[in-house]
Amino acid sequence: MKPTVAPFPAARLRRTRQSPAIRGLVRQNALTVEDLIWPVFVRAGEGIEEPVPSMPGVVRRSVDKVVEAAREAADLGIPAICIFPYTGMEERTEDCAGAWDPENHANRAIRAIKAAVPGIAVMTDVALDTYNINGHDGLVVDGEIVNDATVEALVRMTLAQAEAGADIIGPSDMMDGRIGAMRAALETAGHRNVMILSYAAKYASAFYGPFRDAVGASAALSGDKKTYQMDPANSDEALRLIERDLNEGADMVMVKPGLPYLDICRRVKDTFGAPTFAYQVSGEYAMIQAAAQNGWIDGERVVLESLIAFKRAGCDGILTYFAPQVARLLAR
Ligand code: PBG
Repeated sequence: MKPTVAPFPAARLRRTRQSPAIRGLVRQNALTVEDLIWPVFVRAGEGIEEPVPSMPGVVRRSVDKVVEAAREAADLGIPAICIFPYTGMEERTEDCAGAWDPENHANRAIRAIKAAVPGIAVMTDVALDTYNINGHDGLVVDGEIVNDATVEALVRMTLAQAEAGADIIGPSDMMDGRIGAMRAALETAGHRNVMILSYAAKYASAFYGPFRDAVGASAALSGDKKTYQMDPANSDEALRLIERDLNEGADMVMVKPGLPYLDICRRVKDTFGAPTFAYQVSGEYAMIQAAAQNGWIDGERVVLESLIAFKRAGCDGILTYFAPQVARLLAR
């Protein structure tokens, strides 16, 4: 549809910007608390809230504190929380067996949240990086990140999370064939209503730096993730990945990182019309927080502006570390 604009002065486009009432009337997009998924970091111990230095305002919580956070999120109306485990070097192995341990930090947190706060949806992260001695999302054999053996490991991890009570499985690994394998395993195990939100278009991004600190992967990671995560220069490939994952049984899809990839969000929504999410990742969070803390930008306004941008680009929801702050701002 080509926009038609009458010649001046028939058209004075400022007319519809003249007051808050009129601006509200013509406003096209809205951000609501229902659009938010809150990523949280869980670690060992009890009664612990440990700051993540590269993500001011974000903490790693022990399971009991994660449950408190989930209750707070539910009270604020946030529909979903996403669990990421922090693991120390001593918890990491070459075979990544911790990933499918029913007693790992993530699975304990899932069970505890579902028991205490059943109303909030729990999303997970499926990738081996937080259990891997070398920080990669896949198994490493002779220096190669091997695909098919990794998919088998990811399926075991998925089933352990579903068993723990996860509502939404979040594969962030970028291996080929994993969505189909996970979907088949979930069906076979009777987890018919467990959803998959695929990190389908995930780029090899420097914006993940602070996250890797948060989960303890920075020190572990050898090399980069470019043989599995996408080249930031590519756009068409994102559509092929999204189509492939939807065909394999993903219920929802994600573009990641967020703000630098809004063109991808728009193409994905326009092409497939599937539930589409973006992840405002750790580096995006850190940049906004750093500038706000220095008084260089108005943090609250920048956060809200950054999130409405996702809605404008066609996203149905956003994973953001700002979720609780935003919920409070929106309620005001
Ligand atoms: C792990 C994973 C990463 C993020 C989410 N899941 C890091 C990576 O791929 O290296 C990044 C999230 C963020 O930066 O906030 N596979």
